[in-house]
Amino acid sequence: MCGIIGYAGVEKAVPLLLDGLESLEYRGYDSAGLALFTPAAELLTLRAAGPLTALRKKAWDSGKLEGGVGIGHTRWATHGEPSEANAHPHRSAGGKYTVVHNGIIENYETLRRELEEEGLAFSSQTDTEVIAQLLERVDTGDPLETLRLALPRLEGSYALGILYEREPDCIYCARKQSPLLAAVTESGTLLASDAAALLPYTRTVFRFEDGEMACLRKNGLRFFDSDGNDLDKTPAELARHVTAADKSGYAHFMRKEIDEQPVTVRRTLEPLLPHGAVELGAAEELLAREEIRHVLFLGCGSAYHVGAVGRLLVEELAGIPAAVDLASEFRGQAALVDPRTLVVIISQSGETADTLQALRLAKEKGARTLSVVNVEGSSIAIESDSVIYTKAGLEVAVATTKAYSTQLAVVYALAARLSECRSGNEPRDFLHALAALPDLMEEVLRASEAPALAWAEEIYTAEHAFFIGRNLDYAAAMEASLKLKEISYIHAEAYAAGELKHGTISLIERGTPVISLCCRPEVVARTKGSMEEVAARGAKLFCVTTDASFRPERRILLPKCHPLLVASLAALPMQLFAYHCAQLRGCAIDKPRNLAKSVTVE
Ligand code: G6P
Repeated sequence: MCGIIGYAGVEKAVPLLLDGLESLEYRGYDSAGLALFTPAAELLTLRAAGPLTALRKKAWDSGKLEGGVGIGHTRWATHGEPSEANAHPHRSAGGKYTVVHNGIIENYETLRRELEEEGLAFSSQTDTEVIAQLLERVDTGDPLETLRLALPRLEGSYALGILYEREPDCIYCARKQSPLLAAVTESGTLLASDAAALLPYTRTVFRFEDGEMACLRKNGLRFFDSDGNDLDKTPAELARHVTAADKSGYAHFMRKEIDEQPVTVRRTLEPLLPHGAVELGAAEELLAREEIRHVLFLGCGSAYHVGAVGRLLVEELAGIPAAVDLASEFRGQAALVDPRTLVVIISQSGETADTLQALRLAKEKGARTLSVVNVEGSSIAIESDSVIYTKAGLEVAVATTKAYSTQLAVVYALAARLSECRSGNEPRDFLHALAALPDLMEEVLRASEAPALAWAEEIYTAEHAFFIGRNLDYAAAMEASLKLKEISYIHAEAYAAGELKHGTISLIERGTPVISLCCRPEVVARTKGSMEEVAARGAKLFCVTTDASFRPERRILLPKCHPLLVASLAALPMQLFAYHCAQLRGCAIDKPRNLAKSVTVE
């Protein structure tokens, strides 16, 4: 949520900052800004509401923007509407400190009141401006010392890039509970909140830990601990499959990422299924402790939907009672987990605030925590007892596709391993089918493009749509419905097919689109019954099925596959369907309104 970039070096900073912001724009895109030291050591700030193109134009129109030290930010509004005044960077009233910030300052109202009482004037509604003002208020003439004094007063989370008026060759930075990376390149040093912005320059990065600060200059960077002592940090290499954002000729990242799924699922499964058996690497140790009595899946958004699949699989394959909960709801409940509970935390970014808090609570309660995460070195990956990485690579489109599929793949392998732990026998048929899943996904993608487009052409003007299914089909329906609503803005709901008659069927009118997922053979007959019920009330029916003998008017037929793997195949035509609806409606597919890729606020 929000993106930070910084550069101190011999090149002109502005083009580099703008390119960095472009690769971070999927993190937030309601306004953007940058601050720069000119060669005359003057500090210039440019900000613009709207997408990055508005800032680019301003930068271009402003003429010469020379200077090799600057910071930039792309915003997803939390405190204050998206506007130029609320866009970062924020500068203190006396001009000494200029700040870009990711995260939330929870006590900003108290601090703001205190600073206003001292006569400081604020020019935005943001929590970030409080940081700039506080730094100036505390300023000792030494920015590092100032940070040491001021940061403990901030409650909440932050990744900060800071320019100090009197040190035009330097960017100061600090982190608490919000990711921040730095790197050294041939031309200088870089700061970014996300590897995506660094990948065009280097694969070697320094990850900030909580409480660490740094100072970036063109000839190198220095890290400090929270007491200001020098730190000797070791850089990390980004995983090989993480590559820079590139549409490779596709109109949208989402469309490209849909097509990448067979490859990313194969890449994720390879290390988990060596020689046909399942092997979970370091996570094995976690499973080997005392018997697991209960499995709880936690996640938000699509990650929750993966958990809904995981829950059914663990119960069916391994015979272990399992549950799924929204990570955002877990806090505030009784949270009945203990050392015999395996809590599986699912997150693409590894930084979702609600999910991170749920993980912390589960750990506090003594549960064993295993995370399924895509971004290496992210907070959830580091804080959980063990992690299995999905190998989706960089996912840029806000609506997840390949991260979702790879999460499912890990959850399948986990369920199979739990089954083996429980019974002593590996579920051979399932593992065999799992190894063949990427090939089937390729086949489904090829066959689904044309019918998904045809369906989209039929319903893209609809105001409402319903997705129905039972069991795994219901879990898949929840994800299908989320995909459609988040990118096309068609109001969509998923219902367990059997629940329709208990209320929702009153919403069905002549022509209401109902998309039925009928893929799990054991429930097809009953879901057909639900389709009859809505058809009798005028619904326009669409059906995704694995049952070749079932021939409704509008059908996407999936190839036969293991009944426990259907969610992975059903997702593909549904992603394409949502994509085409959004395209026909002229929506901003990769950056849907009001959303952000990684939600680092609770
Ligand atoms: C946001 C994204 C969703 C994602 C959810 C959880 O809402 O738009 O696509 O499923 O966050 O994100 P995570 O990074 O934890 O998987």
